[in-house]
Amino acid sequence: MPHRSTIFLEDAEVLAHERFEGEQFILKLKAPKCARRAQAGSFVHLTCDESLPMRRPLSIMRANAERETIEVLYKIVGQGLELLSRKRVGDRISCLGPIGNGFVPHPQRPLALLVGGGVGIPPMIFLAEELRERTDADWKPLVMMGSEIPFPFRARPSTILVPGMPDGTIACMPMLDEWGIPSRLASFAGFPGCFEGYVTDLAAAWLDSLDEHTLSQVEMFACGPTVMLKAAANVAKRFGIPCQVSLEEFMACAVGGCAGCAVRVETPQGPAMKRVCVDGPVFDAQQVFG
Ligand SMILES: Cc1cc2nc3c(=O)[nH]c(=O)nc-3n(C[C@H](O)[C@H](O)[C@H](O)COP(=O)(O)OP(=O)(O)OC[C@H]3O[C@@H](n4cnc5c(N)ncnc54)[C@H](O)[C@@H]3O)c2cc1C
Ligand code: FES
Repeated sequence: MPHRSTIFLEDAEVLAHERFEGEQFILKLKAPKCARRAQAGSFVHLTCDESLPMRRPLSIMRANAERETIEVLYKIVGQGLELLSRKRVGDRISCLGPIGNGFVPHPQRPLALLVGGGVGIPPMIFLAEELRERTDADWKPLVMMGSEIPFPFRARPSTILVPGMPDGTIACMPMLDEWGIPSRLASFAGFPGCFEGYVTDLAAAWLDSLDEHTLSQVEMFACGPTVMLKAAANVAKRFGIPCQVSLEEFMACAVGGCAGCAVRVETPQGPAMKRVCVDGPVFDAQQVFG
């Protein structure tokens, strides 16, 4: 199997573990092998505690091959991530990864629209950072993030103008702004400077403002809850642009052995069952939701 020599098992050291509002955490691990091969959209399968036999999958948000580090962002859901949140600097965590096929941005469409909802935000940060470093096209990523709980960063008005944004939609993620990558935020929670609505409605509003030529250069990438991915697929279809989505499924092995994560996908050869862990998690939106 092609992934046999690309997924590694490492005893990763906790280098930092920061807590944010809404039971959200950013965990930084020293995991050299994983850091070397990680790509935007790939994930790690972590042992949250010795007492839990099942690992938990988390998307990689940032990877630094030189420093041998990876970062994940998670929100506590149940027992597994609650136990993970107790890990302290210096603790060790068994880390399996990087797993899965990531996003494949196409240079002929350098206007990359990155749409992340809730805990679907991390792979979008990774993709934005990857595109910032790529030189094979004049990449112009635009990141849109949606959350109903406080964002895991201190939002502030953007210094980068984005034509076509609804009035008052000026809040951004500071780190992206500093990288020169525009970002905008959406929420129903009334956070200042955020678009009031779904992040996919914000995406549609921006796409609606583009002329046909500009639209032909846009490709969309989305990660978040399934309802958001369906909405993203619909928006992409409406505007006739390609869209890649990163799916979430319940996972046992995460290395392709149990087929517990299989989903139905339309392929050019007809319907097929694909494993989200190793065949995905990134798929063409229309093949899944079309
Ligand atoms: C590829 C992938 C990437 C993910 N990336 C992130 C991320 O970056 N940040 C983040 O906060 N969350 C992410 N998730 C969701 C995260 O894995 C679940 O929220 C987590 O497994 C819940 O575990 P728990 O023990 O805290 O909750 P519980 O609900 O107690 O978990 C019980 C069982 O259900 C499984 N489970 C529960 N929810 C999910 C789910 N949504 N997806 C898969 N398995 C689930 C657990 O693995 C466990 O076996 C990702 C999921 C997948 C599949
Ligand atoms: S989780 Fe076992 S095959 Fe995907």
